[in-house]
Amino acid sequence: MIKPLKLKNLQLPSNVWYAPLAGCSDFPFRRMSAKYKPGLMFTEMCKMEALVRKESSTFRFLDFDPSMHPIGAQLCGSDPLIAPTAAKIVEDLGFDVVDLNCGCPVDKVTKDGSGSALLKTLDRLYEILIALVKSVEIPVTVKIRVGWDDKHLIHLKMVELAEAAGVTALTIHGRTREQGYRGFSNRDLIQEAASKAKSIHIIGNGDIFDPESAKDLLIRGCSGILVARGTMGKPWIHQEIVESLTEQKEFSVTPWLVKNTLMEHYDEIVRYEAPRKALLSLRRVGCWYLRDLSGAKQLRDLVNRSQSLEEMYHHIASFDFCGLSFEKTDASSILA
Ligand SMILES: Cc1cc2nc3c(=O)[nH]c(=O)nc-3n(C[C@H](O)[C@H](O)[C@H](O)COP(=O)(O)O)c2cc1C
Repeated sequence: MIKPLKLKNLQLPSNVWYAPLAGCSDFPFRRMSAKYKPGLMFTEMCKMEALVRKESSTFRFLDFDPSMHPIGAQLCGSDPLIAPTAAKIVEDLGFDVVDLNCGCPVDKVTKDGSGSALLKTLDRLYEILIALVKSVEIPVTVKIRVGWDDKHLIHLKMVELAEAAGVTALTIHGRTREQGYRGFSNRDLIQEAASKAKSIHIIGNGDIFDPESAKDLLIRGCSGILVARGTMGKPWIHQEIVESLTEQKEFSVTPWLVKNTLMEHYDEIVRYEAPRKALLSLRRVGCWYLRDLSGAKQLRDLVNRSQSLEEMYHHIASFDFCGLSFEKTDASSILA
């Protein structure tokens, strides 16, 4: 089930990938992810127009270092004339893969026809894919939801279109745009697409939070899986999944691992961000790490209320993680 995967000439060490997460999969997040060697990781989505206009804030989304390879950049946009220039920029920056976002449900993104709005304009989407594939040597991938709503499922049509356009992998989140993050990701639909695919890799996505859910999607015929919310506060999830599914070994997650990893993540953020931004970022990141620890409510509150980085560091470093235990929280409730 766990295996290397080839995308065109690119050899990926594993078929368990880490997702693009706007506002989350930033440089510090990816530094942490890289320690656990996912098969591929992605930047947050960035607008094609902003890249082509050379906006520095957008280029910052694309910061990466050598530890993060293999790494893909995700583009968001709906203009087939701009797409090739944006893809070429990404290729020239040294990315291994370029991905097109066709899943973002947010109105601000869909109102100009981008993100999941492309699921309603498949002719345009096809045109963009053709333009992308023509413009770069690196593999082009595309990430979709199964449709705009239940009455307009497009996952099977997308297999056809993506194959015809020469796309290398199609990632399918088994929810519709209308669903947002409610309910479950429909794995039967992902399986249908995987059984129809001839020349393209189908990457299953949605509700993977542990080795069992990873296995459930892999045995349905996907070439690989993409973990999204399951990576938040758990940069080790790749190793946890791989060890469990290949060696039946349980990756040991202890309160100490949580503390040490949070402290490392703290350092990464402080090194990368200005102090005010770092503080805001750390309040969010701290809650991810601490959410499953019973007995850590007091620390969560302290982290959330910290007024300075020094104060936050002191709270985390001096908190006694001994004696904390894990409780199963609803992982899917994160940011959904
Ligand atoms: C905070 C947040 C940000 C996201 N940002 C992106 C993004 O930039 N690009 C994208 O294709 N999907 C994005 N997604 C969707 C995820 O990549 C993924 O498809 C979705 O969360 C389902 O997977 P999961 O159930 O494992 O979380 C985002 C999801 C969340 C919760």
